[in-house]
Amino acid sequence: PDQDTFTVLVSDHMSEDGLKPILESSLVSVIRESVDDTTFPLEQVDALLIRSATTVTEELLQKMPNLKIIGRAGVGVDNVDLPAATAHGVVVVNAPDGNTISTAEHTFAMLASLARNIPQANQSMREGKWDRKSYQGAELYGKTLGIVGFGRIGSELASRARAFKMNVVAFDPFLTQQRADKHHVDAVSFEKVLEQSDFITVHTPLTKETKGLLNKENLLKTKKGVFILNCARGGIIDEEALYEVIVEGHVRGAAIDVFAEEPAKNHPLSSLQQVITTPHIAASTSEAQKNVAEQVSKEVLDYLSGNPAPHA
Ligand code: MLT
Repeated sequence: PDQDTFTVLVSDHMSEDGLKPILESSLVSVIRESVDDTTFPLEQVDALLIRSATTVTEELLQKMPNLKIIGRAGVGVDNVDLPAATAHGVVVVNAPDGNTISTAEHTFAMLASLARNIPQANQSMREGKWDRKSYQGAELYGKTLGIVGFGRIGSELASRARAFKMNVVAFDPFLTQQRADKHHVDAVSFEKVLEQSDFITVHTPLTKETKGLLNKENLLKTKKGVFILNCARGGIIDEEALYEVIVEGHVRGAAIDVFAEEPAKNHPLSSLQQVITTPHIAASTSEAQKNVAEQVSKEVLDYLSGNPAPHA
């Protein structure tokens, strides 16, 4: 790349359409290779675009002395060592709302699939069976959905659940009465979510406060027969504890899209009949991927062109 342009390394797979702003900009030259495999000199990279597959560590930052900005095409920035980025003077921006609808829809699809054993019944038909007895489900109507974390995704999920005539209780330290009323949900304590819900779903970021939030002790405070969902971040629910409470029969089933360690091939939870799992695809729609790639592309371009207004 010549001296007047910036180099943007797009390390993870991203929507072609969404990347248009940077692909068409004369301000930048774009390299599309994984940061781990690229032969391009990392010390020349000015901006790094990632999804969740790339982990940004202190070690990587040291190899990129020219790096000015990291754009995360998605919400969670838990794959970036933020204090290290700050120490290196690197700005981190994300795309906070581009995949909200997709994630809420995937969570709702998991909820319905879980209640009606759709993946398991489908699997049995693939195996040539006609088994109607094993897959008796539960109605969503009149059931209580407990939402832990009532931000963008939690609130979009609530309106979908309300359309299915579910009662919704929500816990979020920042949830005001006014916002709860607007979304027709009951704002309750975390303990009450555990005690009252027939389905519990988490929609928080992974932080030191939320890591292991649903541990064995809390999982045992739930109603017997509860269903648990995690389409937010691996680690919010203690996976070993969840496995145990399902095997012991306290929790009836779970739907899990995210894992403490990914990729999570042959995960013990995937081996349980009562559990349905997907490989971190809640945000994987063409719409969401276009949105998030476009959002971060614009933010990164803005920043490189000297408009210091990205939301970090
Ligand atoms: C996010 O944080 O936006 C999602 O987990 C989606 C992703 O990682 O691609």
